[in-house]
Amino acid sequence: MAKIANIGLILIIASLFLLAPNNVYARKQGSAAEELTFLHDGCLGKEKVAKLEIYVHDLRVGNPTPTVYEVAAASITPNSPTSFGSIHVADDLVTSGPDINSAAVGRIQGLTTSADLAVNAVALNLNIVFTAGRVNGSTISILGRNQVSDAQRELAVAGGTGVFRFARGYAIQTTTYYDAATFYGVFKYTIYTTYQGLKLAESDGVVVEIAQM
Ligand SMILES: *[C@@H]1O[C@H](CO)[C@@H](O)[C@H](O)[C@H]1NC(C)=O
Repeated sequence: MAKIANIGLILIIASLFLLAPNNVYARKQGSAAEELTFLHDGCLGKEKVAKLEIYVHDLRVGNPTPTVYEVAAASITPNSPTSFGSIHVADDLVTSGPDINSAAVGRIQGLTTSADLAVNAVALNLNIVFTAGRVNGSTISILGRNQVSDAQRELAVAGGTGVFRFARGYAIQTTTYYDAATFYGVFKYTIYTTYQGLKLAESDGVVVEIAQM
């Protein structure tokens, strides 16, 4: 009787060793499955589009507190009617309204390059970094050609991070205000972008509309 009990004990212990690696594997599979669920729910199944409105305060050299500086130029730049080759770096304040004293929501940072020999047009390469509310820390990357004389400039939303992972869309840039005497311009960006995860709302300060894809 004792012998049978011992054999039973050995079998139980042996089966624990056999099962152990399977359990570890099962746990690993579980986390991979969870990751897939996250990707599916977050990116494919429940993708949403947000319309964001933000205002960018462009303070050029000549203003008492500039946030845009020229960092490079080409041999042709001084004699070019379009300032071809001039590159500026910007770190402009972003607010939720056109007034510079309205709620700060982030910064827009990056490069603008005068890149057209014939007309005034700039190649933009900008990251919007949000610094307030639930989108704090998330970014949207914007690329595109900005023909300065156009009333509306359409730019590409090339991607994003945080809430704006997998972002794609476009942005319309318009000039709200420009004062050559103080080297101060206000640009409005209306951004249509996909996003996932967090459910954005008007209370987030930059969102004016949400649509389901
Ligand atoms: C945004 O996040 C940073 C880093 O986590 C934090 O220091 C800061 O206080 C946050 N800002 C707001 C307005 O919540």
